[in-house]
Amino acid sequence: MLNCAVLGATGYTGAELTKLLLAHPHVRVALLTTRQEKSIPLHEVLPSVPQNIPLEITPYSFEAVKKKADVVFLCLPHTEAMTAAAQCLEAGKVVIDLSADFRLKDKKTYENWYGVTHTAPQFLSRAVYGLCEINSRKIKKADLIANPGCYPTGPSLALVPLLKKKLIKPDSIIINAASGVSGAGKKLVASTQFCEANENYSAYKVNRHQHTPEIEQTLSAAAGKPVKITFVPHLLPVNRGILATIYAEVTAKATEDLIRKTLEVTYAKAPFVRIRPAGQYPSLKDVQHTNFCDIGASVNEATGRVVILTAIDNLVKGAAGQAVQNMNLRFGFPEEAGLL
Ligand SMILES: NC(=O)c1ccc[n+]([C@@H]2O[C@H](COP(=O)([O-])OP(=O)(O)OC[C@H]3O[C@@H](n4cnc5c(N)ncnc54)[C@H](OP(=O)(O)O)[C@@H]3O)[C@@H](O)[C@H]2O)c1
Repeated sequence: MLNCAVLGATGYTGAELTKLLLAHPHVRVALLTTRQEKSIPLHEVLPSVPQNIPLEITPYSFEAVKKKADVVFLCLPHTEAMTAAAQCLEAGKVVIDLSADFRLKDKKTYENWYGVTHTAPQFLSRAVYGLCEINSRKIKKADLIANPGCYPTGPSLALVPLLKKKLIKPDSIIINAASGVSGAGKKLVASTQFCEANENYSAYKVNRHQHTPEIEQTLSAAAGKPVKITFVPHLLPVNRGILATIYAEVTAKATEDLIRKTLEVTYAKAPFVRIRPAGQYPSLKDVQHTNFCDIGASVNEATGRVVILTAIDNLVKGAAGQAVQNMNLRFGFPEEAGLL
C-alpha cells in the first residue's frame, strides 16, 4: 500500500481528496494535517465518513510527513504550498501540488500574476504539469506534479488537440467560464457569501484572472507559438462545477465533423473525457461528483466560428480527482482506480 499525506485536509479540495483516497484500493491515508493547533476528528470535517474510522487531522509537523508518507498532496493556498513542497522534495517524497505554485514554468510570470516572490524556483523546471490526458508520459516519471487549475482543465483538454491539428486560429480564442462557489475555497470572502452569490451571476477578475497565463502556457505549447487568450470567469450560484463556453475562429480545413472526430480520436482511450454527439452539449449535472470532463462542439459556417463547451466538477476533475489520476499514473495503478 502506498502511504499518502494530505496537507490542508480541512479545506474543500483536501476533504474531497481524503474521501477519494479512503475509497482507493491501493493506498492508505497515513497522515492528514492542518495548521490549527489541535487535532480534529476526520468525521467533523467529513461527516459522510463513518465515525468508526479513527482518523484525525493533526497539526502539521514535517517530521511526521517525513516518517509516514510516500506521496504528499498539497491542498494549501497558492503562495503557501511552495515551502512545504521544497521540504518534501528535499526529503525524497513525491509531491502532488494542487496549488498554482509550480504550474507556471516562468518565475517572473508567476510573480507578476500571484504578487509574491517564488521561494523555490529551483524546482520549477522539474515540475510536470499534471494534465493527465496530455502529459501522461512525463507524469509517470515525475517527483513534482503540478495539478492543473480548475478553470484551465476543461478548456485545455478541448483546445490542445484542435491547436495541434491547426483546426482553430490561435489568436482568436475567447473563454467564458462559470464556476460554482466552492471554486473559491472555504475561507471567508464577501463575494462568495450566500446573500451575495445566491440568485446572482456575475463576472470577476475580467482579463486578470491568475489562470490566464496557465491556459496560455498550455495552448502555446500545443500551437508551437505564443498564444494569448481572452478569459472571463464568472461566479455561478451552485456548489460545484465549471461550465466553459469557448469561441474560436476555425481554419479553412475545419468542419464540425473534423473537429468532433479529432477530439474523439484524441480521447478514444481516455477514461475520463467524453465527447458529446452532434447537437448535444455538456451540463454540470452530468459531471458533478465525477472525474469526467465532457466536451461538446458546434461550428457556425456563417461566422466561421466554433463554439466549444466543456464541463467538469471543479473539486474532482478540477482538483482532487485529477490529483488521484496523477497519482495512479505516477505509481502504475490503473488510471481509473478509486475514481469510477
Ligand atoms: N476549490 C477548488 O475548486 C480548487 C480547484 C483546483 C485547485 N485549487 C487549489 O487548491 C488549493 C486548496 O484549495 P481549497 O479550495 O481546498 O482551499 P480551502 O478550502 O481554503 O482550504 C485550504 C486549506 O489550507 C489550509 N491552510 C494552510 N495554510 C493556510 C493559510 N496560510 N491560509 C489559509 N489556509 C491555509 C487551511 O486549513 P487549516 O486552517 O486547517 O490549516 C485550509 O483549510 C488552493 O491552492 C487552490 O487554488 C482549488
